[in-house]
Amino acid sequence: MKSVVSEAVSRLRSGRLVGLPTETVYGLAAAFNQPNAVEKIFKIKKRPFFDPLILHVSNIEQAKDLAQEWPLAAQALAEKFWPGPLTIVLPKKDSVSDMITASLPSVGIRCPRHQLALEVIDELGVAVAAPSANLFQQISPSSAKHVLDSFQTEDVYVVDGGDCEIGIESTVVSVSEEKIQILRPGFIGKTDIEDCLNRSSINLKIESQESKEAPGHMQTHYQPEKPLVILNSKVKMTNKLQNEIEKLLHLESSGPAVFVNLPKDPVIAARLLYSQIRDLSKKEASFLYLYKDHSENEAELWQSIWNRLDKAASLQK
Ligand code: TXA
Ligand code: MG
Repeated sequence: MKSVVSEAVSRLRSGRLVGLPTETVYGLAAAFNQPNAVEKIFKIKKRPFFDPLILHVSNIEQAKDLAQEWPLAAQALAEKFWPGPLTIVLPKKDSVSDMITASLPSVGIRCPRHQLALEVIDELGVAVAAPSANLFQQISPSSAKHVLDSFQTEDVYVVDGGDCEIGIESTVVSVSEEKIQILRPGFIGKTDIEDCLNRSSINLKIESQESKEAPGHMQTHYQPEKPLVILNSKVKMTNKLQNEIEKLLHLESSGPAVFVNLPKDPVIAARLLYSQIRDLSKKEASFLYLYKDHSENEAELWQSIWNRLDKAASLQK
């Protein structure tokens, strides 16, 4: 019998799509040099062509083949954090198509930390383009089942690599000779990046600002099946409050308001975040809600988690 890795590789070679496990979330992969396969990603995700895809490599040399420049900072970050949850955005080479980068002159590259993904990319011999394996504007998948649920009727072979260890999407940074910009926060925080650069005696300004120019960074994103409501103070969920919220959301009441109880440890909270929200969305519920406590949640990872929750929310009150 063919191994899952060989099956995935032969499908990718023949222009078909494969769900790949990574340590962050599952990706929907196509060989980067097959335009028809890359186009299929956009089609079946219903993703607009203005939202660029990340390329996944199995080693630093492969990344260097895709980028026009490879600054010292990129080398330091890749050595320290790859394989791992960091996407590095650099000027692209001509071999990377405009469809992948949504016509931007830059490309996002990362080396994922999952044995099966690394084996697939290694055996394929070229990078794979892979966004998160969910429908556009829905929450990312953190298990093989989540991917299968979204693409039941499509020709997608899913490599089951278990539940994702980190659970939220990678940190995205753009790197130039002048500065580093954190375009999407993630498990690797600004302090981790600063420490890494300091250790390599690289003195670069680090801005943490979600890019307006990166089209994927839209205000609404990651929408769960049931509306998510963020309450900015710890008020009790009474019938009156529930009715008020349902009115604001134009919802027919279809059950109770369900509380999302985030684990105290941010590493666990991130790991379980998407499956927790998916599971609660399946319950008989009118909407999901949680409290944002501004005095807690100081840890950088909490900020990345709240970045996802803020975008998932239909209402903040
Ligand atoms: O952890 C992850 O990054 C997962 C796994 C599968 O690797 N992938 C992922 O891909 O989250 P996706 O497509 O869902 O999100 C990629 C983000 C998008 O917001 C996109 O706009 C941004 O990265 N991005 C990609 N290329 C870019 C570029 N050249 N410049 C700026 N942002 C870019
Ligand atoms: Mg995504």
